[in-house]
Amino acid sequence: MHVLMINGGASDDGCTAAALTEVAQTLSKEGISSEVVNLGKNPQRDCIGCQACRKLNNRCVFDDDIVNRIIEKAESADGFVFASPVYYAHPSGRLLSVLDRAFYAGGKAFAHKPGAAVVSARRGGTTASIDVINKYFTINQMPVISSTYWNMVHGSFAQDIAQDKEGIQTMHNIALNMAYYLKMQQAAQQNGVNLPDTEKGQKTNFIR
Ligand SMILES: Cc1cc2nc3c(=O)[nH]c(=O)nc-3n(C[C@H](O)[C@H](O)[C@H](O)COP(=O)(O)O)c2cc1C
Repeated sequence: MHVLMINGGASDDGCTAAALTEVAQTLSKEGISSEVVNLGKNPQRDCIGCQACRKLNNRCVFDDDIVNRIIEKAESADGFVFASPVYYAHPSGRLLSVLDRAFYAGGKAFAHKPGAAVVSARRGGTTASIDVINKYFTINQMPVISSTYWNMVHGSFAQDIAQDKEGIQTMHNIALNMAYYLKMQQAAQQNGVNLPDTEKGQKTNFIR
């Protein structure tokens, strides 16, 4: 079993990365592999709503950045952690641009797989940011993995995270709950409990 983690920060070794390292170490102890995709400092395109992905077999029309690579990785992943620094009380714009496109084009690759939001902040805006990330899960039939506190760490620099003992405990418990869910899902499938064949097709727009 494999968990794909996305670091929506600009820094590959900042606070968000430090939080994901804690999640990864506990997943590993549970026998679950993981990888971190760092969005880094490159620009990420936003969704232009062109609908071209409807004809592109779950891929975005823009193939010159990381989004289609993330959809490819998502297809073989079993669970997800989407992590971000808090910017003005929301997740980073780069993470939202990437997730809007990855879910609009390739939502099938994520559906029915568990997801956890993780945020890092100096001080405030954490729960609002977690709410934004959780909305990708809850519109796409994805169980939300929670912990013993809301999924956050606090710091300005990576070394600050080590002092946030409760934050680190929270990261460990995300991983334990993710591992439990993945093992439970595997056991369910092995015992003939299949994913639900959920209804599709209704699009009742409020205004036409
Ligand atoms: C543009 C910008 C906006 C920020 N806004 C907030 C904020 O609203 N609340 C907060 O507590 N920290 C804020 N911060 C601080 C970062 O969220 C915090 O330092 C975070 O842990 C950095 O994670 P990173 O090292 O992975 O980038 C902001 C930082 C930047 C660059």
